[in-house]
Amino acid sequence: MAIIQSNDCLIPLIYKMSVDFTGAVLPGQFFMLRAWDKDPLLSRPISVHDYETGQLTFLYQVVGKGTEILSRLKPGDNVEIQGPYGNGFPEVSEDLCVVGGGIGVAPLHYLVKKYKEKNPQGTCRVYLGFRENSYGVEAFESMADEVILDIGGIITNRLKVNPGEVVMTCGPEMLMAAVANMVPPENKVYVSMEAHMACGIGACLGCTCETKSGNKKVCKDGPVFLREEVFYE
Ligand SMILES: Cc1cc2nc3c(=O)[nH]c(=O)nc-3n(C[C@H](O)[C@H](O)[C@H](O)COP(=O)(O)OP(=O)(O)OC[C@H]3O[C@@H](n4cnc5c(N)ncnc54)[C@H](O)[C@@H]3O)c2cc1C
Ligand code: FES
Repeated sequence: MAIIQSNDCLIPLIYKMSVDFTGAVLPGQFFMLRAWDKDPLLSRPISVHDYETGQLTFLYQVVGKGTEILSRLKPGDNVEIQGPYGNGFPEVSEDLCVVGGGIGVAPLHYLVKKYKEKNPQGTCRVYLGFRENSYGVEAFESMADEVILDIGGIITNRLKVNPGEVVMTCGPEMLMAAVANMVPPENKVYVSMEAHMACGIGACLGCTCETKSGNKKVCKDGPVFLREEVFYE
């Protein structure tokens, strides 16, 4: 159980929740959250948005029953968190280009923060695409060397990847597929996949995804994969 420190509505349906937690956490990993007894049946996977010793933060969108229950929690309430789970984004020393769409920006904040901590001289460029309203952009602007924002358009229309940059993306599968297709083969591309999850620890096969080398579990083998593993002909 973790105690909620804050749970604020940023814009309608988008919430930021901080809870008490201390432990090792990698960018791109996720926790299984639960604040109910039997209904809904399963805990819900939510990515690490930020972490400082003693404080773990999630950014989430209310889309159904589970996230709606989470949104009603108040400071001091308990929430069950299990994790961190998954492989996370790899640590790189090359320049970084990050592409996020919608609530897919959630794990990219901690990614950019850790990258800049480890590579203060490295360049980090961030592309963020939102359908209607943006959120969390200022935090990226304070950390990244460049932030390109698109609201209501197609963020990949503006994407230009420099030679030597490693690309990391999270968002709707169509966005990640477009990034995977358009980035030159010389640049490495990592994608963070979504799947319905039951256990989060590789035990139920509920999150299986097809890859070039056979079926993989998004919760344990992923959620981060190299583009050629999941987007291939
Ligand atoms: C590894 C991982 C990390 C995630 N990180 C975040 C995050 O940081 N912030 C965030 O807002 N959301 C994140 N999600 C998605 C989040 O888990 C779902 O939105 C949530 O489980 C929905 O639960 P619900 O009970 O509110 O909605 P439900 O009633 O379960 O579903 C509502 C709608 O959302 C769809 N949906 C539900 N779960 C998923 C899923 N796992 N993948 C795709 N579509 C789904 C359903 O098909 C349905 O259309 C993540 C998912 C994964 C797999
Ligand atoms: S969620 Fe159970 S194996 Fe991935």
